Amino acid sequence: MTSNRQALLKSRPFGLVTSENFEFVDTPIAEPGEGEFQVKVEAISIDPAMRGWMAEGKSYIPPVGLGEVMRAGAAGHVVKSNHPKFEVGDAVSGMFGVQQFINSNGAMVAKLDESQASLERWIAGLGMPGMTAYFGLLNVGEPKEGDTVLVSAASGAVGSIVGQIAKIKGCRAVGIAGGPEKCRYVVEELGFDACVDYKAGNLYKDLREACPKGVDVLFENVGGEIFNTELALMNVFGRIVLCGLISAYNATEMPKALTNLRFVLTQRLKMQGIIVFDFAKDYPKAIEELGRWHAEGKLKLREDIREGGIDAYPDVLNLLFSGGNNGKLVLKV
Ligand SMILES: NC(=O)c1ccc[n+]([C@@H]2O[C@H](COP(=O)([O-])OP(=O)(O)OC[C@H]3O[C@@H](n4cnc5c(N)ncnc54)[C@H](OP(=O)(O)O)[C@@H]3O)[C@@H](O)[C@H]2O)c1
Repeated sequence: MTSNRQALLKSRPFGLVTSENFEFVDTPIAEPGEGEFQVKVEAISIDPAMRGWMAEGKSYIPPVGLGEVMRAGAAGHVVKSNHPKFEVGDAVSGMFGVQQFINSNGAMVAKLDESQASLERWIAGLGMPGMTAYFGLLNVGEPKEGDTVLVSAASGAVGSIVGQIAKIKGCRAVGIAGGPEKCRYVVEELGFDACVDYKAGNLYKDLREACPKGVDVLFENVGGEIFNTELALMNVFGRIVLCGLISAYNATEMPKALTNLRFVLTQRLKMQGIIVFDFAKDYPKAIEELGRWHAEGKLKLREDIREGGIDAYPDVLNLLFSGGNNGKLVLKV
């Protein structure tokens, strides 16, 4: 291959992302310089956060600039190397972007052991989403044995792992997901105690049945009306892990205010946001523990791997916002 297909951010989306927001270009592949190596990107992590990275405004990371390669975590193999620590054939992951090739000096690049897991899994359950679930639940949510842990977007990359860790820690795990098939998967295959289908239209009543002792730890991935309803179920001194607000990522008007905020006061709740990158120095510990639970059959991991290459990026990203993904979404390139 002589050229590098790239997705450049052309304009900032209003509402859902479209192909019009990107320019797809073929650029010549530069030779890696001294102390650099070249990666052929094979699997791109498709994450809800990407929608935020396209937008201007205060956040935990600067937005992707117009004309720049779209930011993405990804994995692939080293195909050329002038770097003493990276050899041709090494499997690696890093923030490689939505493109086919990248030259790197090794900063923030991890070597992956393919005998332990596939490239896709290394950017899924053993990658950023797994780290988010692990540190968000254990370090921020601080679940205790017997607690009820409630998680929204429960069949997805982060939520599916949150509930399974809650079970490992002796908690009652309750999920919220869209549709009967996702709820069946969450209970029958992942082993949650219950799952509520928010699309069925009885969220508060169904949650009360699924959480008869209330909720001690809420792991929030969705926000909006779902979050507002969950607040009314919280127990005294409960903890809220604010991980994501996906229902608002494509909003074109200001979200409605929460009307149930009084429960934060009356139940003396603690709420803390989590950004997974804050825990980067402890990733090896989490990878070791998640890997062990997986090997012991206590943790099921699922990737939803889509074909279509770089040009499919906008359509594949939008699956996250329609609930079209089943597990950690990955784009093959
Ligand atoms: N803070 C961090 O460091 C961090 C890191 C990673 C991820 N996150 C956050 O974690 C959340 C989950 O991310 P993920 O990568 O694991 O994605 P995911 O759960 O695999 O996929 C997203 C899911 O969100 C649900 N969803 C989308 N729009 C919704 C809406 N309007 N109302 C209700 N549910 C909706 C859909 O599931 P249903 O079909 O069930 O509706 C969809 O499948 C996101 O909010 C993400 O931003 C945060």
